[in-house]
Amino acid sequence: MIRGLLLIKKNKFRINEASKMDSIWLPFAIILVTSLINKTNTLANCPISCHCNDVSLVVNCGEGSLDVLPIALNPSIQRLQIKNNKIKTIDSSIQFYADLNYLDLSHNHLFSIPPRTFSYQKMLQELHLNHNKVGTITNKTFIGLSSLIVLNLRDNFLDSLTKGVFSTLTNLEDLNIGQNRIKYIDADAFEGLKKLRVLFMDDNSMVSVPSPSFVHIPQLAELYLGVNRFSLIKSGAFESLRELNRLDIRSTLLDTIQVDVFKGIENIRALDISDNQLVRIPSVELSKLKRLEELYIGQNDFKTVAEKAFIGLKNLKKVDISGSIKLTTVESGAFLTNSNLETIMITSNKAFSELQEGAFSGLPYLKHLILRDNALVALTESLTHWNDLETLDLTDNPLTCDCRMAWFRDLLSTKNASHRQEHVLCAYPEKLRGQSLQRIPSDVLGCTQSVLHAQTNISVIVVGCVAFVTVIILLAIKCRRQIHDMFLGKWRSMPMSSKELEYQKTFYDDDFMFRHPHPCGLSSFSSMNHYSYVNPTIRTIPTTEL
Ligand SMILES: *[C@@H]1O[C@H](CO)[C@@H](O)[C@H](O)[C@H]1NC(C)=O
Repeated sequence: MIRGLLLIKKNKFRINEASKMDSIWLPFAIILVTSLINKTNTLANCPISCHCNDVSLVVNCGEGSLDVLPIALNPSIQRLQIKNNKIKTIDSSIQFYADLNYLDLSHNHLFSIPPRTFSYQKMLQELHLNHNKVGTITNKTFIGLSSLIVLNLRDNFLDSLTKGVFSTLTNLEDLNIGQNRIKYIDADAFEGLKKLRVLFMDDNSMVSVPSPSFVHIPQLAELYLGVNRFSLIKSGAFESLRELNRLDIRSTLLDTIQVDVFKGIENIRALDISDNQLVRIPSVELSKLKRLEELYIGQNDFKTVAEKAFIGLKNLKKVDISGSIKLTTVESGAFLTNSNLETIMITSNKAFSELQEGAFSGLPYLKHLILRDNALVALTESLTHWNDLETLDLTDNPLTCDCRMAWFRDLLSTKNASHRQEHVLCAYPEKLRGQSLQRIPSDVLGCTQSVLHAQTNISVIVVGCVAFVTVIILLAIKCRRQIHDMFLGKWRSMPMSSKELEYQKTFYDDDFMFRHPHPCGLSSFSSMNHYSYVNPTIRTIPTTEL
């Protein structure tokens, strides 16, 4: 307290330096100061909930019920952190701490910041006022903060940004005004922020991108606009942000991406367009972003990732397609032309079951393949170079542990597989549910042959069937007359008595089958014919059983 008063006096002296009165009092005041310094040290009041370090000049107050700034702290402190308390306003006692370079008053009850509150904080570099109830800031709120680099106003009650509201913050690089209620942004709201590099404006109530205001922040590198209600972003909306390299427009109700939305920001490295309503992947629109390295496009409404969906994105290193409830298929060649891909995340797509052969082909640098929480039942060996992956995550898929996954079990048993994935758990068949695939003996996997053999067998069966059907057809053509007669006989036999049927039978058996051996008179035919008198209609059935 005493120290603070002295500081105020000192300031007064400085202002009235020329005054004779003061020069008379000055020596006396100095003696007073020096004599009191030791006393103030003993008087220095560190609130119970705080930790005050007079060497490092850091005061750190834990959760508590402070409702005003403590006034008797060491006036030389450089870092002051009072989070999770009940401070309602920043009173003039802040002026005692002119050496502060870091002030954190987040998670308090601040509802207003009087004009010129920080006029003595010439050294302050970081100001954290996030998670409070500040409803208004004006062009006088931040006067004096000429060294400020970081300003965090996240989660307050701001609803508009007026002209020049930050204009005194000429060194500001990082501004967070996310999670407020901002609807209106003056075209000159960012006036003076020549050095701004990072701007968070996500989670507000904007209905259009505040493009005109961007002319004041030409150095901006990262822009976060997600969770607003744009529905549509006009062509050239980001045109003046020539230095932009990261753009986040997730959750902004977009159902299309206009052709020239990215005009002027073709050099961006990261783009988040997830959680929108895109019914297709905007391949053409994205293809202009030649330097794009990271793309987040999940939680949209497209059903497939088509061949060459990300055409032209030669520098793409990471793609994240997660939480798209309508996604069913990743087509063959989906990532063709994205030969620098290192990370593919396709997770939590509940309907995604079709991973086409060749879906991951042409990706020599693929290191991380995250396929968690989809509807995948099996994987094929030729999908990718499984052995070179550093991360492989298949957790929470309805994997069926049978023959088809035997190769995968073998792969998982190889010595360096353990760090990629601890356990691949089976969901089916029932008896193997919850078991770790790599612990299941291969004979339990329901096959004695390798997948290759199984495939060969399937081919043999298919060829066999085709040959068989061909033979039957040829026979049918050859014997069409007899068959015709047979059916005619059947037709005629309808009204016949059982006696006549008996005759018919004898006739067929003897005359048709045995008395006239014929290329189509196979023995099984004869046995089949044996039934035909009882119920002629089942005559054709046994042929399929052959
Ligand atoms: C601050 O805003 C007021 C209007 O609210 C305006 O009259 C004044 O000129 C502005 N001051 C500066 C320094 O821009």
